Amino acid sequence: MKFEFVPASANSRLDHVGSYRRRLPVSLDRMYENALDWQHLPHLHSSSFGSIDCERAGAWGWRAKVSTDSAEDGTGGSTEAGSSSTLELRLDREARRWITRNVAGPNAGAEIWTHVFVVSDRVLDIVVDFFVPEVPARARDKVGMAYAKAYELLYDEDVQMMTERQRQLDQRLDGVNEDEVCRLERVRDLQLPLQVTMSGRSFVVNTLAEGAAAATLGDWVVYPAQCPHQLGPLYREPLIAGTVRCPWHGYVFDIKTGNCVSGSQCSLGRVPSVIQDGAAIELRWRSA
Ligand code: FES
Ligand SMILES: [Fe+2]
Repeated sequence: MKFEFVPASANSRLDHVGSYRRRLPVSLDRMYENALDWQHLPHLHSSSFGSIDCERAGAWGWRAKVSTDSAEDGTGGSTEAGSSSTLELRLDREARRWITRNVAGPNAGAEIWTHVFVVSDRVLDIVVDFFVPEVPARARDKVGMAYAKAYELLYDEDVQMMTERQRQLDQRLDGVNEDEVCRLERVRDLQLPLQVTMSGRSFVVNTLAEGAAAATLGDWVVYPAQCPHQLGPLYREPLIAGTVRCPWHGYVFDIKTGNCVSGSQCSLGRVPSVIQDGAAIELRWRSA
């Protein structure tokens, strides 16, 4: 296990069922961003959350109704499958802390207090305290451990997202080299999707046809390997009816137009055009 579970002490708050501690390889900015990011819950944490309906959100935090498809309620407690709860998260930057309250639903009254300690620019220690009312003293450790295990999974998923986003932010570049050409020979043999780099940016080369061998010029598509929303990874996702869905917050993009077709105001941005040259294709920023 990557975390430490600390059972509640006998004289702690009566409803304290335990603490979860872990060191994370992320900055405070990424951590706060993640805490405020209600949208990712049913996508990145799809095994814990079914859907989310945000009532309000801002720099202070968020309040939302969440449903669960599984036996975990995403704040660590066990619930009946398919139940829904209203959660509220309030961030207090000065105290480097946020409190998530279960305000309505099967675990109403439960609170999760997360404190952050900055070890260095990109290393944090977190201490997460679980408070659950009406747990008999003999059951505290069991309930506390269930919360800790649920948090282990959520943080495993969040760490991947935060570190990938940081890596992409570190690589961001301005401008493109307009003369750059990326030539791919014998395209019929390509293993798709294929990632290529142009002007320091990653793109995915793919086809709307059934595989590379069946593709004609109009079938080839090129799109960014990262989502324009928060740089989520698009390169592993399948193309479905000419669209790709980002695994972090579920935004769906039309590959041909670049537009987001799931209701958000962002688009895939500039991509190189595809030019066929016999058995090869070329990606170019400007037409030859
Ligand atoms: S990073 Fe948020 S939808 Fe892609
Ligand atoms: Fe998360």
